[in-house]
Amino acid sequence: MGFPKDFLWGGATAANQCEGGYQEGGRGLANVDIIPHGKDRFFAMSGHMTNLETDNEHFYPAMEAIDMYHHYKEDIALFAEMGFKTYRLSIAWSRIFPKGDETEPNEEGLKFYEDMFKECQKYGIEPLVTITHFDCPIHLIKTYGGWKNRKLIKFYKRLVTVLFTRYKGLVKYWLTFNEINVILHLPFMGAGLVFEEGEDETAAKYLSIHHELVASAWATKIAHEIDPENKVGCMLAAGYKYPFTCKPEDVFASYEANRENYFFIDVQSKGEYPRFALKFFERENIDIHMTEEDKIILKENTVDFISFSYYSTSCVSTDPKDLSGTGNALMASAKNPYLKASEWGWQIDPLGLRMTLNTLYDRYQKPLFIVENGLGAKDVVEADGSINDDYRIDYLREHIKAMKEAIDLDGVELIGYTTWGCIDLVSASTGEMSKRYGFIYVDRDDAGNGTGARSKKKSFDWYKQVIASNGENLD
Ligand code: BG6
Repeated sequence: MGFPKDFLWGGATAANQCEGGYQEGGRGLANVDIIPHGKDRFFAMSGHMTNLETDNEHFYPAMEAIDMYHHYKEDIALFAEMGFKTYRLSIAWSRIFPKGDETEPNEEGLKFYEDMFKECQKYGIEPLVTITHFDCPIHLIKTYGGWKNRKLIKFYKRLVTVLFTRYKGLVKYWLTFNEINVILHLPFMGAGLVFEEGEDETAAKYLSIHHELVASAWATKIAHEIDPENKVGCMLAAGYKYPFTCKPEDVFASYEANRENYFFIDVQSKGEYPRFALKFFERENIDIHMTEEDKIILKENTVDFISFSYYSTSCVSTDPKDLSGTGNALMASAKNPYLKASEWGWQIDPLGLRMTLNTLYDRYQKPLFIVENGLGAKDVVEADGSINDDYRIDYLREHIKAMKEAIDLDGVELIGYTTWGCIDLVSASTGEMSKRYGFIYVDRDDAGNGTGARSKKKSFDWYKQVIASNGENLD
C-alpha cells in the first residue's frame, strides 16, 4: 500500500520562468521574452498586442528570470540534496533553433541542455522534459503567424527529431506541450497567436490546436522510433469543475466545461476527435483542415501517459452574477463557499485532486503523472535568514494525502509528482517573483532587484523527508 517504490518524486520548472540568459548562447528571441510584468501582461498573453517589440516602459521578467542559465549546477545540487528522483524542466525552442525555421540547430543551445541532463544524471535524477512550455520563437510568430500556420508542424518535427536524437540515453520522459488547453485562454503564450481586427478567434484557436495535436502525435511517433525506451506524455491544465448548484442547467454546464478540457486528452490519448467536438466545429463553422494523414498519425500515435497540473477546482454556474467570485487566473469561477483560497484567490481543494485523478483515470486508464501542484504565496525572510513556510507544507501535505487515497482507495495508477516551482521563479500569470512556490528561496523581487542568492526554506527539509520516506512521513 502507499506510493509505488519507484514513484518519481521531484519538482518542476519552465525555461521561460527560470532560465534567463535570453541573449546568451546564440538564443533567439521568443514570445515569452516580450510579455511584460504589470497591467499590460494579460493583454499580451491573450494575443492582442500587435506590436511585437519591447520598450523602455515595461519590465520583461523572463529575460533574466532567476538566471538558472548560470546557476543550474548549484540548483540541481540542491534538488539532489532534497532527494529528487526526477526534475521537470523545459527546453527553450529558440536556444535550439533561434529563429525556429532553420535546418541546422544551434550547437551551443544543444550543449547547454546536454550539460544540464548530465548534471541530473550525476545525481541519479531522471529528467522529465517539456518540449514546449509557453514558448515559441518570435520569428515563427512574425513570419508565419505562430501555430495558426500548418508549417509549424514541420518545424516542430525538426526540433523534436534533434532533441530525441541528441539526448537519447539521457532523457526518457517527454511532454509535448505544456497545458495544451491554455491556448483557449492565453493564446499568445500557448501558441504565439496574435489576432487581427475582426478575426474569428475561436476558429483560429482550434486550427492552431489541431496543428499542435498533430505535432504532438508526430513527436510521439518520432520519439518511439528513435528510442523505444522513450515515454511521451500529454499535459493538461486540470482541476475538476464542479457545478455551483444542483440545478440541472449548472450540472450540465459543468459537464460541458470539463469536456472542453478532456477534448485535448481525448485526441492525444484515444487518437481521434470526440464526436462532441466535431459537432461543435460544425455549429461554429470551424474548419481545422484535417487531412487523411493527420487522422492516421493521430490514431497510431497516442501518448504513453497523461500528465497534468493541479492547483485548484472551480465552480461553473449559468448565472453570471455567481461568477464574480474568484477564478484561477484562466477561467471565471464562482467562489466555492466551502474552500479557503491562496493570497491570489486560487481555492485550495485537496479532495478536488483526488476527484481530478479519478475522472482522468476513469476516462483514459493510462498512467497519470502530476507534473505541477503547489501554493503560490508571499514568503517572509526572518532576521536570521530563515523562512517558515508552514502554509506551503500544509498545502502540499494535504494534496499528497489525497494522492495516496487515490492510489490506495481508488486504485488510480500514479507514477510521479513534481511540485511546481521547486525553486522560486517568475509567475506565469502575473510576472511576479513575489508569488513564490519554492522549497528554495531566490533573492529577487518583482522589479528584478536582488542578489539572486538561493536559500533553503523550512519546506526544503520537510520535502526531503517526504521523499526519503516515499510519502509515508508527512509531519
Ligand atoms: C501553470 C503553468 O499554469 O501554472 C506554469 O504551467 C505556471 O507555467 C503555474 O507558473 C502557476 O501559475 P502562476 O501564474 O502562479 O505562475
